[in-house]
Amino acid sequence: MKMPVAPARIVFIGAGNMTTALVKGLFSQDIMLHNIMVASPRIDQQHPLCQQCEVQTTRDNVVAAEQADILILAVKPQVLQSVASGIRSVLQQRQPLVISLAAGVRIKTLVSWLGENIPIVRSMPNLPVTLQAGMISLYADSMVTSDLRGQAESLFSSVGVILWAQSEEMLDIVTAVSGSGPGYVFLMQEAMEEAARHLGIDAASARLLTTQTFLGAAQMAASGTLSPADLRAQVCSPGGTTEAGIQAFQQRQVKTVFREAIDSAWRRALELAQ
Ligand SMILES: NC(=O)c1ccc[n+]([C@@H]2O[C@H](COP(=O)([O-])OP(=O)(O)OC[C@H]3O[C@@H](n4cnc5c(N)ncnc54)[C@H](OP(=O)(O)O)[C@@H]3O)[C@@H](O)[C@H]2O)c1
Repeated sequence: MKMPVAPARIVFIGAGNMTTALVKGLFSQDIMLHNIMVASPRIDQQHPLCQQCEVQTTRDNVVAAEQADILILAVKPQVLQSVASGIRSVLQQRQPLVISLAAGVRIKTLVSWLGENIPIVRSMPNLPVTLQAGMISLYADSMVTSDLRGQAESLFSSVGVILWAQSEEMLDIVTAVSGSGPGYVFLMQEAMEEAARHLGIDAASARLLTTQTFLGAAQMAASGTLSPADLRAQVCSPGGTTEAGIQAFQQRQVKTVFREAIDSAWRRALELAQ
């Protein structure tokens, strides 16, 4: 008789925004219940995760790492080196799949902190993972087998859509596009709201009009095969209102502004990775 395979023990180091989003995502899909452990220096039963999801907790990173099949480094980049050094010897013995969420910390650096021979995946999620509507780019080092890639994918697919990066450098570009992207969208919404209010619309109505416009437009882009340029052509009748608005954007060279903005974010991602 075939013995049932025990589900992987997933350990999160850090109990902040990203851990909360991922754990909630996993629970929403009923994946591997009872097999999640969260380690953080001040975690207790009052933590929202303990209230909402059945997770085991510890304040000791080593205790957590000793049980990990998949270990997710979900602490801020500033504390990552000391966290990684503290669990290095346990990880060397156990060799779990390590997934780092830390922006800008290269695999080469992670290897210098954790030691060789550990399969490492880097991920760049964005904030909508908190609503299970995230965009997550993943990059795997050469130690990561296709089976481990599958495990990383099933974890992140609970909170969004996944794109595998072909190179680690691509993650810096992803950071500037989809990582920072929600910020650009909020800026556009803010500007559209202000323009609506300037013309006399109340704040609540301006919020509703702009939010639903972004949602609906994104759904149109996601649901069909038309490019954004084709979709724009569809809503622009010659001599109409949309065309008048778009001409004003084009006079201000809005595409150049976006190119410069994303270029600046990318350069900043490179600087932070130094
Ligand atoms: N938030 C985003 O939109 C986003 C997007 C992309 C990538 N990321 C990356 O995801 C990672 C986590 O971000 P986050 O937003 O979840 O951060 P966060 O909310 O600040 O959470 C960090 C967690 O780490 C805990 N912590 C601090 N020192 C620790 C230690 N020595 N050992 C174990 N846990 C420790 C903190 O505990 P205390 O609060 O008690 O100090 C907190 O629970 C970061 O590397 C970030 O770059 C975040």
